[in-house]
This record gives sequence, structure tokens and C-alpha cells, in this order.
Amino acid sequence: MSRIAYVNGQFVPHGEAFVHIDDRGYQFADGVYEVCDIKNGQIIDLDGHLDRLNYSLSELQMAHPMSRNALIVKMKQVIKRNYVNNGLIYLQITRGVAPRDHAFPNHKESSIVLTAKSVSPLKKLSLYKNGISVITVEENRWARPDIKTISLLPNCLAKQAAREVGAYEAWFVDDEGYVVEGSSSNAWIINNNNEIITKNPDGSILKGITRAAIMKEIEAMQLALVERAFTLSEAIEAKEAFISSATTLVMPIVKIDNHAIGGGEVGEMAKSLLAEFYNFAQKTDI
Ligand code: PDD
Repeated sequence: MSRIAYVNGQFVPHGEAFVHIDDRGYQFADGVYEVCDIKNGQIIDLDGHLDRLNYSLSELQMAHPMSRNALIVKMKQVIKRNYVNNGLIYLQITRGVAPRDHAFPNHKESSIVLTAKSVSPLKKLSLYKNGISVITVEENRWARPDIKTISLLPNCLAKQAAREVGAYEAWFVDDEGYVVEGSSSNAWIINNNNEIITKNPDGSILKGITRAAIMKEIEAMQLALVERAFTLSEAIEAKEAFISSATTLVMPIVKIDNHAIGGGEVGEMAKSLLAEFYNFAQKTDI
């Protein structure tokens, strides 16, 4: 069955979905994106993702290609046309096509691309069961990781470094020894006082939508949430650790660099946060 993409007003077969070579996303990585989880045909935390999309667009003075309601209609259509029940929807907006010039073009015609794909809920089962390894890399990104831009080269290099040593994720660590976040996820630890710790959103991290759902969950489960920076040494000493994102939800960590976490076993709190996740995420009825 062929996949269908939405590109600037048209639904086209995935294999024939192209943007112009003068698209500023292609030339300058001048664009923003969102990735949303789809569970049982519903987009998870759609409002949060669309609010963050508006934030990214406005921080970059980029035009929204359509109204929020029109965008939701297109997203639903892409999901339906690709028969996605469980999977992901990807949304990308760039500053559009213009002759190459670093400064913004005069027009406000942004480009938009939407794709959706099925992902079997079983695909990552063994990672949830056995936990993942994380490596650490130096923080070398620009000073605005709070904007969800497609300019992801340091993130790609970090993820590649992880893959090359058989790890799943790379954590950026700043020059004071604090863990910032993962290359495509937020970072969490649970210490021996059962405090669930994740970095405060001070502009140095992406304010994850999954992170927000987990925070609600922690509150509802009456567990101790602490929003503060934590060091790599604290993480290595932690009882449990995990990452969060729309594509991983709550993914337990059993190794950071060469240090086993929680005796190398998946922690009980991460397990229960994962099990309860969808009860606390906002499910959008589509
Ligand atoms: N990444 N931090 C970074 C750098 C990310 O790229 C992501 C998400 C997150 C978690 O955000 P959320 O919970 O809203 O997915 C944190 C997506 C999944 C990606 O790039 O594919």
C-alpha cells in the first residue's frame, strides 16, 4: 500500500513528494517541525504540539501556512489516507521557496509537509523490557534548543555517536557537568529519595510535550517531582533513569556511558510511569 504525503496543498504519493531546491528548509534548515504519537487512531497531546509549533514559528518570525483548524483537518486526512492506527505524524513548516539569500524573503509563503506512518506497538518492546544505553556528548548546540527547528546537525552527530557504540541515545552534558537533554528526547533520573528529577525549562532544552504529560502523571500519582538541573555524577548514582519523547514515551535507561544504572535492571517507577502514560496524556478525538 503506497504512502501518501501532504505537500503544500496537495496529497501526493510518498515517492513523488518533493520540495523545490530553493526551499529555505533545504538550503538553510530554516524551518520547524513536530512529531506526534498516534495511538488507536488518536493523536496524543495534539494541543500541546500545536501550541509549541506556534511558539517555534513565532520565535522565528515565520508565517503559519494555515489556521489551526485547517491544519488539524489536514493532519486527520493524512492519518486516514495512510490508514494509521498506531504510529506517528510528522509535520514540517519552512520559510518557503526564495532565491538564496540569508535574510528572510519578502513573501510570507511558508511551505508545509505532513507525513504519517504506522509503527507497530511491538517494535520497541524489547527496549522497554530490557532498557537502553545512553552515552554522553558535549553540549555543542546553539543557544535556542527551546525552538523545535529542523536544524538538527549536532543532534544527528550525537545520535550517530550513540549508534556507533550500540547505544540508543546520547545525552548532551554542559561544561559544568549538568545533563541538558538527549539528542531527540528529554532526560530524567530518579534518586534514592524517590525524587523524579528533570531539567527545568530555562531555554536550554526543548519543552517536551511527553515531558509535560509525565509531569501531570507524577502529580496525579502523588510522586515527588523535582524540576531542576542534575549532574552526570548524580545520574550515574541514580536509582533509575529514563528518556521521554513522542517516539519513545517513557523509555528506561540501564546504562549511562559505562555505568550500570539500577544494577542494570529496568526500574519499577519507570515501568509504572510507562504503564500509566496514556491515562495522563491528552488523547485527541479524531
Ligand atoms: N524529538 N528534546 C529534543 C531535542 C527532541 O528532539 C525531542 C523530540 C524532545 C521530546 O519532545 P516531545 O516529548 O515533545 O516529543 C526533547 C522528536 C520526537 C524527534 O525529533 O523525532
